[in-house]
Amino acid sequence: MKARQIDGREVAAAVRAEVADDVQEWVRAGHRPPRLEVVQVGSDPASSSYIRSKTRACAEVGIEAGTMKLPDTVSARELREAVRRLNEDEGVDGILVQLPLPPHLSAHDVIEAIDHRKDVDGFHPMNVGRLVLDQPCFRSCTPAGIRELLRYYEIPVKGKHAVVVGASNIVGSPMAVMLSRENSAGKATTTICHKFTRDLTRHTIAADILIVAVGQAGLIRGEMVREGAVVIDVGINRVADESADRGYRLVGDCDYDSVADRASWITPVPGGVGPMTVAMLMKNTLLAARGSIYPR
Ligand code: GUN
Repeated sequence: MKARQIDGREVAAAVRAEVADDVQEWVRAGHRPPRLEVVQVGSDPASSSYIRSKTRACAEVGIEAGTMKLPDTVSARELREAVRRLNEDEGVDGILVQLPLPPHLSAHDVIEAIDHRKDVDGFHPMNVGRLVLDQPCFRSCTPAGIRELLRYYEIPVKGKHAVVVGASNIVGSPMAVMLSRENSAGKATTTICHKFTRDLTRHTIAADILIVAVGQAGLIRGEMVREGAVVIDVGINRVADESADRGYRLVGDCDYDSVADRASWITPVPGGVGPMTVAMLMKNTLLAARGSIYPR
């Protein structure tokens, strides 16, 4: 079987267009535009690049965005104080603290300091807890984006065996929860694998839907995938490539060609899951502004 491609750019554009329409309607009804505030500690180039793409997407859909830059010497107390001010600022709807943080700062502590009603990343324990309890919440953007991809392509989830490789707080764990819950996003039988899993292939080969979020180029090869499986590759890895302008190219966690030979659907890297993360952040920021999840 030669897999069909899931086009994340197309689906992300559709989500952004819908958000842009809803923002216009919100503003026409007399409200101020939604506002996202990004906190950046230090000046890591990769973080700066992610933040640029988030603020660019905001501008495109009519969401205002600001970036609060703090030096990488900022203390935990100063950072919490900055977050507290944003919590109290009525003009800010969504707060996002860009990760990773410098080693002297605890991401857990900072995330907990964010008002969960403004936690558009969906990382706060209140939102994670409510996700587990199947209650309305901000959902982590990457797994929410993957759920949207499956919905867009009408790929059924209910009753399927979903295998998630990678158990991170940002992707793997919330993904597994979403797929296994009783609501319309879920009802799959779900297995979570991680770096301590013995005989990974025994699990991956059983997957109707295989979601890989590990950050290891080429981890999943064709022979590890069931014929006709749906494969979602979350990995974005740089591999050296002298023929490329930048000296590297981006690949996922799957060996694309051999996996595409067996799968029925597959996400490319780049252009698969990546664009969905930013699109879902736009959607969460709109939901925060409208008080759709937590009435204001
Ligand atoms: N760093 C890498 N991905 C993310 C994300 O989705 N949110 C935040 N806050 N930081 C990140």
